[in-house]
Amino acid sequence: MKNINPTTTTAWKKLQVHFQETKDVHLKELFEDQNRAVDFTIHWEDFVVDYSKNRITKDTRDLLVELANEVGLQDAIDSYFGGDAINATEGRAVMHTALRDESDTAFAKAEVDTVKKAIQSFTQKIISGDHKGTTGKSITDVVNIGIGGSDLGPVMIVEALQYYKNHLNTHFVSNVDGDHVMEIIKELDPETTLFVIVSKTFTTQETLSNARTIRKWFVDKLDEKAVANHFVAVSTNLEAIEDFGIVSSNVFPMWEWVGGRFSLWSSVGLSIALAVGYDHFEQLLHGAFKMDTHFKTASFDKNIPVITALLSVWYNNFYKAQTEAIIPYTQYLHRLPAYLQQAIMESNGKSVDRNGEEVAYETGTIIWGEPGTNSQHAFFQLIHQGTKLIPADFIGFRKSLHNNTDHHDKLMANFFAQTEALMNGKTKAQVIEELTISEVSRDRIDVLSPFKVFTGNKPTTTILGEKLTPKSLGSLISMYEHKIFVQGVIWNIYSYDQWGVELGKQLATKILKDFDQISSASHDVSTMHLLKYYKNS
Ligand code: F6P
Repeated sequence: MKNINPTTTTAWKKLQVHFQETKDVHLKELFEDQNRAVDFTIHWEDFVVDYSKNRITKDTRDLLVELANEVGLQDAIDSYFGGDAINATEGRAVMHTALRDESDTAFAKAEVDTVKKAIQSFTQKIISGDHKGTTGKSITDVVNIGIGGSDLGPVMIVEALQYYKNHLNTHFVSNVDGDHVMEIIKELDPETTLFVIVSKTFTTQETLSNARTIRKWFVDKLDEKAVANHFVAVSTNLEAIEDFGIVSSNVFPMWEWVGGRFSLWSSVGLSIALAVGYDHFEQLLHGAFKMDTHFKTASFDKNIPVITALLSVWYNNFYKAQTEAIIPYTQYLHRLPAYLQQAIMESNGKSVDRNGEEVAYETGTIIWGEPGTNSQHAFFQLIHQGTKLIPADFIGFRKSLHNNTDHHDKLMANFFAQTEALMNGKTKAQVIEELTISEVSRDRIDVLSPFKVFTGNKPTTTILGEKLTPKSLGSLISMYEHKIFVQGVIWNIYSYDQWGVELGKQLATKILKDFDQISSASHDVSTMHLLKYYKNS
């Protein structure tokens, strides 16, 4: 990949001029062009991506595409899919796309297929009840023990695909907070529970602590030899799994070239396949593969991940918007914002560029969100009338899964109403007219009207799918994965390492040891004071 500081490109300089010329144009003015919705909508498979309610013109789009070309996006895409070690600081390729690549020439095809077959056969045995627990009973509950990418992807998908779930109850233990694990296991019957320990490295403190606690609880209730029928592991670290006491036949391997936060497509997705069945898991992969193909082949101006990434760069680097909201209008996607927080912020929360130089421009955005309509009754006030510019993705589906048209129409009426309101706002003249019709006195109108004005001009992108299915979900997640990649290319940062989480981990290990000898520990005065208070010493 080229290591180009984006701010030195010709396109960037043109964008700066263009920004000054257009920054005060209101979206309402842009919509005087009746073709705008058509010009700024991408129809792809079952999705409609309408990005017309963004503060851009065709020139903005052209210049952003020029920027993508100038930083060598096409070459970067080729390197990404071609298996180059684009995660250079860890010396690894980034090949989660190979896990869903349906072509005959897919990277590591034989290995991937072998693991997929193992997942398929194992999930079938568990779901059908053929696999028996140690006392001869079938499995009723599955507990995924993992954190970060070994938790967020699986839990987000299992929640999202609840409609497609089978009889197995799925639980997730992630936090090292012992109350979390105790709350989960207190209701479980060890005789009918399967534990899936998921850790790419098999060194993560949280996961190993939870796994050890659960294993002890399990052995105390049953016995040591029962572990073989109830514990499986997903990892690259086969030695550590063996040390933990899990037999090799219960291990589902993964690979260094699959990053933790992009690993739900691998055996990390075992709990997904267990929850919804292998065929649905395959559909999820298929949907992602379709989006991979779109990303690789569509021209940049019609390419969903490219356009959404460029919009994000536009707001982040020119409008200086610091955050982006993700608002799914389906309760099933309630964990999507949390999942994307890791995917996006762990990837692009970097301040050193690919040349090892500190960047002098903004990189990764802060991601947040909650499902609509709940979020409307929580933080939408700030998006509508606060001082910050918050570009938002509105994600919805034409059809509800339970065919409850009455509810779905209400939900989607809100979905469309919000983006329209955010765009148009409400002028003072409109406020006065409304209050006058409501027979509010002139004096009161003068007092109230400033508070009731909405400036509008708040950008949104509408991502409207046909129906939430494993396939459409796979496409949606893959879209965000590639958006992350494009942003990283433009910002000239390494999106696939995560050194930033290491320091806290190291210090926590030190502090844990210091608990036994607080007086001789060495920390700043604030931390020492707190440690002494915590340990009451
Ligand atoms: O938070 C850091 C991190 O390394 C994530 O990138 C990863 O998803 C998570 O920890 C869990 O790691 P592992 O799967 O190795 O337990």
